[in-house]
Amino acid sequence: MIENLETNLPRTLAHFGIFGSIGKIIEGPLITEVEFKLAEGTKFANVEKMTRDIARELGVSGVRAKEIPNSTYICFEVPQPQATTIPFPPLVYSAEFVRATYALPICVGVNMRGEPLMKDLSKMPHLLVAGTTGSGKSVGLNTFILSLINKKTPEELQLVLIDPKRIEFSMYNNQKYMYRPVITDMNEASTCLEQLVNEMNYRYTLFEQQMVRNIGEYLEKGFKMPYIVCVIDEFADLIMFDKTVEKQVLQLAQKARASGIHLIIATQRPSVDVITGTIKANLPTRLSYKVSSPTDSMIILNSLGAEMLLGRGDSLLLEENGTLTRVLGAYVSNQEILNMLEPYRIKDTQQKFSNILAEQRQQAQEQANQNYRDHLEAEQQKTISWKIRNWWEKIGKVNQRRIINFFITIAMGIISGMTGSSAKKKSTSDVISSATNRAVGSVKRSIKAQAKKAVTDAVLNSLKKK
Ligand SMILES: Nc1ncnc2c1ncn2[C@@H]1O[C@H](COP(=O)(O)OP(=O)(O)OP(=O)(O)O)[C@@H](O)[C@H]1O
Ligand SMILES: [Mg+2]
Repeated sequence: MIENLETNLPRTLAHFGIFGSIGKIIEGPLITEVEFKLAEGTKFANVEKMTRDIARELGVSGVRAKEIPNSTYICFEVPQPQATTIPFPPLVYSAEFVRATYALPICVGVNMRGEPLMKDLSKMPHLLVAGTTGSGKSVGLNTFILSLINKKTPEELQLVLIDPKRIEFSMYNNQKYMYRPVITDMNEASTCLEQLVNEMNYRYTLFEQQMVRNIGEYLEKGFKMPYIVCVIDEFADLIMFDKTVEKQVLQLAQKARASGIHLIIATQRPSVDVITGTIKANLPTRLSYKVSSPTDSMIILNSLGAEMLLGRGDSLLLEENGTLTRVLGAYVSNQEILNMLEPYRIKDTQQKFSNILAEQRQQAQEQANQNYRDHLEAEQQKTISWKIRNWWEKIGKVNQRRIINFFITIAMGIISGMTGSSAKKKSTSDVISSATNRAVGSVKRSIKAQAKKAVTDAVLNSLKKK
């Protein structure tokens, strides 16, 4: 903590006409939070505008002022003289993270008290990341991907990584988690996003067939389907190269939530032509690292403050409900990334990408076909012709023969009755009744003969045994 903050800060504030009294002082790994009660009638917006001058006078790189919800105090965040680095491995292996039961748990970093901050990507349901060059975006993206990999198997999670800069994600290329190889060619990005839109629509057809509303309910029914997380590092480059990606990203951002497809989009340039109003509306959860101007902070967070951040993973997380939390991202080195990925490396270079998805897709298709066949059969069973056929098969060969003979006997009787000599001519009803009697008699004889044979066989069998 910078020395004598409790006396220095009020004195500096007074130079700018800001008066009030100091409250609690809480020291964290990155900043010291100083609560301050403003003198009556002082507007917070005026204080917020002066933070740059306050920082200069205090001799620190940046001071951020924030309101404390439901409190008469505001808070000044004054950086520590020594920058702190939070290593990623202890966070991801911590008991809290191991216990986390979210669908897509992400370790965002630590809050200003140094406590780990875990979030569920599936609830966000997408994440927009911004920050000037060198502010920590790529390190952050790597920690998010590794958080997911540490909690999910390749059967539960597949990754799509789009990296127009070609350097950030190369180490993921031979991973079982990859839906397809890392995309570095911008021409391919649009094709891949189109594929994801198709996958989303396909998933909704499956959900419809199974009468479920989302991936959670689908998995509960015992089916398999991986979540798909698509990470784009440098969205601005992509959108400037190919405008069609905006439409695809929007389609995914608007509809993919329930299908288990989630986006993490990072950009160095949070300008309005990259982060358009519609994109903002559909990506309510945003993480801003240090940006270069208050305007950029307004675009990404709808508030000032990100321009005052300290870099090296220092960030502000805006959640769907509007809460803004300052987070210090964890640091992961390249070697640590390689170590964490080693168990999932595909050793057989011949192995194709997205085998898992293809297999699961085939299983789902077979299941859907089977369901359709069952459905057709159930419908068929309701028809009279099916009932008759079923009964016919059930009565067995002997009875079938009897019934056929029965009708043949009747038919022959009727024919001979009708075509006989005129002396013997009978009325039609007499002919039918005598033909029927003869047929019934024949059936009775056949049944008696069968019964007799059965009894004789049984007696002979029992004698043989003796
Ligand atoms: N959480 C962190 N803790 C400590 N240092 C960090 C952290 N994040 C980033 N850094 C430092 O900042 C450097 C730049 O980070 P990173 O490559 O992530 O920036 P970037 O925002 O992706 O930049 P660019 O837009 O140029 O790609 C890292 O090499 C590292 O030294
Ligand atoms: Mg980067």
